[in-house]
Amino acid sequence: MVISGKTRVVGVWGYPVGHSRSPAMHNAAIAALGLDWVYVPFAVAPVAVAEAVAGIRALGMLGVNVTVPLKQAVIPYLDEIDPVAERLGSVNTIVNRDGILTGYSTDGPGFLWDLADNGVSFEGKRVLIWGAGGASRAVAAALAERDCRVTVANRTLARARDVASLAGQGASAVEWGGEAYDEAVAGAELLVNTTSLGMTPASVNEMPFVKPGALHAGQVVYDLVYAPERTRLLVEASAAGCRAIGGLGMLVRQGAVSLAYWANLDLADVPVECMAAALTAAAS
Ligand code: ATR
Repeated sequence: MVISGKTRVVGVWGYPVGHSRSPAMHNAAIAALGLDWVYVPFAVAPVAVAEAVAGIRALGMLGVNVTVPLKQAVIPYLDEIDPVAERLGSVNTIVNRDGILTGYSTDGPGFLWDLADNGVSFEGKRVLIWGAGGASRAVAAALAERDCRVTVANRTLARARDVASLAGQGASAVEWGGEAYDEAVAGAELLVNTTSLGMTPASVNEMPFVKPGALHAGQVVYDLVYAPERTRLLVEASAAGCRAIGGLGMLVRQGAVSLAYWANLDLADVPVECMAAALTAAAS
């Protein structure tokens, strides 16, 4: 990479941020597109958020990705919030258009894009979502927009209810492991894990509770966990005859949507395969 007098800066903010694979993924795309940009990680302490946002304008940055623990904290300092990000109360992408800073949430669009790229039709489906954190909110809201009937199952029922209330009138919450839960798992056409169960290293042998025999052919099981690539949930879902899809494709595509905003590109022109390869290489 050559830094010139015209190089523009994009990046990712987190705290900590050292584990992030976004720089590898985005710099690969920047190179493939021949852009004179560089994507840099910044450890931004929550107390410094206001100054960091002012820095985007002061330094003429094109924008940034925002990750834990800053996704809510940046909101008061932006000029505009996209309606989806506003509903979710979470921003993962800031775009600088001539000094006007707009906040977006690209998780939902990235998720739907990956489903579509996997040939999964999702409009109007019955969906079971495991978990009720930020990722769950983004997925639930995106699917509800596509007329899905969403059921949210979470260890803490009150949080599941909060997410269900975002996902429209047909949405509901069920208690983790109860009778309604078993019925929701067996009856769903699409099941999405947004919990950390299955994630490497601590919970790699875990998965959301599934009653023996509940998963079956005809269901699609999507795990937002991307490390390992084949989680225990995906292995068991495949064995039960389900279509099983891991979270790498969504991770790439939520980043690709950010890049498309910064570069003003059509999604079809973002080099997602090259981003996926860089992400995988960065993990090894
Ligand atoms: P994110 O913002 O990435 O979605 P989060 O807000 O920390 O992450 O949410 C993590 C989700 O995983 C939560 O739904 C959490 O359940 P609680 O709301 O009850 O805390 C769920 N989760 C984490 N560990 C779990 C476990 N061992 N069993 C079941 N659910 C778990």
